[in-house]
Amino acid sequence: MPEEDFVVTPWEVRGKVDYDRLVQQFGTERIDAPLLKRIQKHTEELHPLLKRGLYFSHRDLNWVLDEYEKGRPFSLYTGRGPSSAMHLGHMIPFLFTAWLQKHFKAKVWIQITDDEKFLFRDFDTLEDATRVGYDNVLDIIAAGFDPKLTRIFFDTEYIRHLYPLAVRVAKKVTLSTAKAVFGFDASNNIGQIFYTALQTVPCFLESIEQGRNVPCLIPCGIDQDPHFRVTRDLAESLGYYKPALIHNKMMPGLKGLDSKMSSSHPDTAIFMTDTPKVAGAKLRDAFTGGRATVEEQRRLGANPDICSVFAYYTYLFAPEDPYWKRVETECRGGIRMCGECKLELGGHVMEFLKEHQLRREKATGQLEKFLVRD
Ligand code: TYM
Repeated sequence: MPEEDFVVTPWEVRGKVDYDRLVQQFGTERIDAPLLKRIQKHTEELHPLLKRGLYFSHRDLNWVLDEYEKGRPFSLYTGRGPSSAMHLGHMIPFLFTAWLQKHFKAKVWIQITDDEKFLFRDFDTLEDATRVGYDNVLDIIAAGFDPKLTRIFFDTEYIRHLYPLAVRVAKKVTLSTAKAVFGFDASNNIGQIFYTALQTVPCFLESIEQGRNVPCLIPCGIDQDPHFRVTRDLAESLGYYKPALIHNKMMPGLKGLDSKMSSSHPDTAIFMTDTPKVAGAKLRDAFTGGRATVEEQRRLGANPDICSVFAYYTYLFAPEDPYWKRVETECRGGIRMCGECKLELGGHVMEFLKEHQLRREKATGQLEKFLVRD
C-alpha cells in the first residue's frame, strides 16, 4: 500500500496514516512547543503521550487554557463504542483523560454508545451492545477516574437527558453534510445518519447542568474528529461554546505500524482481559524491525522506526525517557536482539495488565458511583 493510501473515519482506520496530511485535511492544529509549555505550567510534568507527540493535534486548546487561566474551568468529555473487549489502544484516551482530570480537577463526562455499536456493528441485539458496554465500563473506571468528578452514561439509559438536545442538533445537520463528512450513501440505515447528533450532545451537558456556558475539552483519537467538526459548526447557533479537542494518534497493531488493532483478529491487539500467557504469545509473534539473522543485526542494528514492539514501548511501556532512549539506542546499535526485547516488553505488559485487572475487579463494586441514568 503506498504511503498516502490511508483512511481515517470514525468507523474505519486503515493503512499507514500520514498525520501531517491528516492535520491539513481535517483542518486541525499541531500541538507545538509553546502549547506544551503552557500545559506544563499547570501540570508540572508532561504526560509521556504529550512529550512524545502522540497527542499531536488540537482544536482551540489555547482558548480552553485562556479561559482556565482566567478562573473559568473546563469539563472533559470522551467516550467508548462498546464493540468488543477493550484493547490497549482504546485505553489511551481514558488514561490521558484521567491524567487531565487529576491535574485540572475537571469534571469528566463519559458516553457509552451502545446504540452506535448496535447500528454500525453486527450485534444481533441491542442488549448485546449494552452488555459489552458494562464490561468496558470496568476498564474505563480502572483507568483511574475520580468518582466524585466523573459521570458515565449509556445512550440507551440516559436518553431522556440526551434526546431533547439531540433533536435540536439533528435539525441543524443536513443529509448532504452527513454524506460529505461521513461518506454515507443510500445503503446506510437512518439510525446511522442520526447517530452523530447523539455523539454531539455530551459536549453541552456540563453547561446544562451548571446553567451557564462551560468550555468542554474532548480528548480522543483523531478518528473521532469528524463528529466534532459537525458539532463545532452548529454549537454557537444552539447557544453553546464550540467544544475544543485534543487528538491522539492511533496506536498500531502488533503486525506492523500500518496494522490495526482489530477485535476480529485478536492476535493483532492486547486486550485488557488477556491472561499473561495469551499476551506473551501475541508479543512473541509481533512484527519487529529486526534483521534476518542475529549476526546481521549485531553488525547493522535493527530499525525501531518500523517496529510494533518499539511502538508499544513508546506509547505505554517506557514512560521514563532515559529507559525509552536506551531501548532505542540499543536497538539501532545492534546490542538488543528482538527476542529479548519482546520478553522485556512482555514483562512490562504483564505487570500493567495485572495492575489493571486488579483495579478492574475492584471496579465491579464501584459502578453505581460512576453511572448516571434517567
Ligand atoms: P471507540 O470505542 O472506537 O474508541 C474509544 C476511544 O479510543 C480511541 N482509539 C484509539 N486510540 C489510540 N489507538 C488506537 N488504536 C485506538 N482505537 C481507538 C478512539 O479514538 C476513541 O477516542 N464513537 C466513539 C465513542 C465515543 C467517543 C465520544 C469517543 C462517543 N463519544 C467522544 C471520543 C470522544 C467510538 O466508537 O470510539
